[in-house]
This record gives sequence, C-alpha cells and structure tokens, in this order.
Amino acid sequence: MKLDDTRALVTGASSGIGAELAVQLGEYGARVCLAARRRELLDAVAERVRRAKPSAVAHVLPVDLDTEAACRELIDRSVEALGGLDLLVINAGISMNARFEELPDPLATARAIMETNYFAAVALTAQALPHLRRSRGRIVVVSSLVGVAPLPTRTAYAASKHAVHGFFDSLRAELGAAVGITLACPGAVATPIREVSKAQGRGATAAELPDDEQMSAAECARLILDAARAEKRELRMTAAGKLSPWMRLIAPGVIDRVTRYKLGLDRRS
Ligand SMILES: NC(=O)c1ccc[n+]([C@@H]2O[C@H](COP(=O)([O-])OP(=O)(O)OC[C@H]3O[C@@H](n4cnc5c(N)ncnc54)[C@H](OP(=O)(O)O)[C@@H]3O)[C@@H](O)[C@H]2O)c1
Repeated sequence: MKLDDTRALVTGASSGIGAELAVQLGEYGARVCLAARRRELLDAVAERVRRAKPSAVAHVLPVDLDTEAACRELIDRSVEALGGLDLLVINAGISMNARFEELPDPLATARAIMETNYFAAVALTAQALPHLRRSRGRIVVVSSLVGVAPLPTRTAYAASKHAVHGFFDSLRAELGAAVGITLACPGAVATPIREVSKAQGRGATAAELPDDEQMSAAECARLILDAARAEKRELRMTAAGKLSPWMRLIAPGVIDRVTRYKLGLDRRS
C-alpha cells in the first residue's frame, strides 16, 4: 500500500513505537489521528508529525481504550476528522515484568493486560472494518515475538499477544483481499514500557536485556511501515525471532533455558 496521503489512526501514539510510527507516517505525507490518554505527549508528537512534511496533518484524540464505547467513539471521530480511514495501526499496549507467582494480584493483572492488548484491538477492529472495506485498507497490529513464542516473566502479556495472533490470523482468512492485515512482532525495543509496568504495579523483579540488545523505537517503526507498504502478513524482527518458531519445534526446552538465562532467573531461584 502507498503511505503518502494515507488516512491513518495510530493508537498508543503518545510514546515509544507508536510515536515513531506517527512521525514516520508524517514523513510520508500521511494524515494521522493520534490516540492515547496523555494529551500533552500527543500534542508534542503531533507537532513532530506536522514538522515532518508540509502536507502531513495530525489530529490529537485523547482516549482511554479500556472501554468498548471509547474504542467505537475513537473510530467514529477519526473517520470524521480524516474523511475516511485507510490504515488502522493497533499499537497501544501494556506489559508485565514479574514471575507469575510474584504478582500481588495475578488475575487482576491478566485481566488488565487482556483489556488493553486484546479486547481494545477487537473493539477497534469491529468499528473500523466497514470503513476499511470501503477504502480497501489495512490493519497493522503491533504484536510481539511473545505472541509466537514463550517468555518467562511475561505470562499474561504472552497470553494477550497469542490471543491477538489467533484473532487476526483468523480474521485475515475471513476477509481475503478485502482488508489487509499485517501482524508485526518486535523483539526487545527501547521504550518506556518496562517503566510503565513498574509504576503500575505489574512487576519490576526481572532483569532485562542490556540496552545494546534492544532495537530503537525509530528502527522498529521503520520496519513496521516497510512491512505495511509491502503488504506483508507478518513481520518477525531480529534473528532470534525468526529462529524461535523452528527451535520450538525441534528443541522447545532450549528456548526456555536461553530466556531464563538472559533474564537472570536461574541466578535468582
Ligand atoms: N518495547 C518493547 O520491547 C516491545 C516489544 C514487542 C512489542 N511491543 C509492543 O509495542 C506496542 C507499543 O509499546 P511501546 O514499547 O512503544 O510502549 P510505550 O512506550 O509504553 O507505549 C505504549 C502506548 O500505549 C498507550 N496506552 C496504554 N494503555 C492505554 C489505554 N488504556 N488507552 C489508550 N492508550 C493506552 C500509551 O499511552 P498513554 O499512557 O498516554 O495512554 C502509550 O502511547 C505495545 O503493543 C507493545 O506490546 C513492545
């Protein structure tokens, strides 16, 4: 698909990968709606989008995606602002960083993560599909390698991203060529997502990959938009990410051991 002059909605556009996606869509000359809860951060990203290219347009739509009504209203307001919709980027998400047994309230954590990462994605898609059918548009979902492989300390997060894959892989098969779907699976990306988990009580006990093993948010966004332009079904980033599905088939225990080691779990138990 062509991204110049595209009418796009990006969720989670106030920070990290979503902010970079919005700015790079601006560089293509797209018209972009920016959605998240923190208005002041959205305003700053909108300014970057407008500066990216004279033809780029940015609308700020503050929203909490944790209710179905808010998701529906966000799509309606975006379609109204843009005069239609060609690209829906489902990127907003929250994570966790703790062993399951260490979470103070495991079920509440699992439900909160599912609400933002999975149910909001479903609600946005339900409301957007008639508009995307009309434009023969595309949905880009920012999932994770954790949507296709396990990772210790991310139990509920992995479940939410696996749900995303089951839903969108099946929906793609239903829709055929009517609306395209790209599932993007980044590995570790340097964004505030882990600080947010800590601040919101979803754990901070796990060690993390060193900074030099994390991709920048700008590079991640560039790869995602390249995959959207090439109309790819799925994008797996990093060599380890491409290898892990095969390793799972051949020697599943190896992934468990490597990820336990990388996250320092064996040193702690
Ligand atoms: N960073 C990584 O290592 C990594 C790896 C693989 C996949 N991902 C995925 O990439 C996506 C973006 O994450 P990120 O790393 O860029 O994290 P981030 O910097 O923390 O950004 C998360 C975004 O989601 C928004 N958001 C969260 N809850 C929301 C809610 N209830 N309503 C509206 N917006 C909400 C946040 O905005 P407000 O707080 O302003 O609402 C923020 O803009 C997520 O789906 C994540 O799972 C990240």
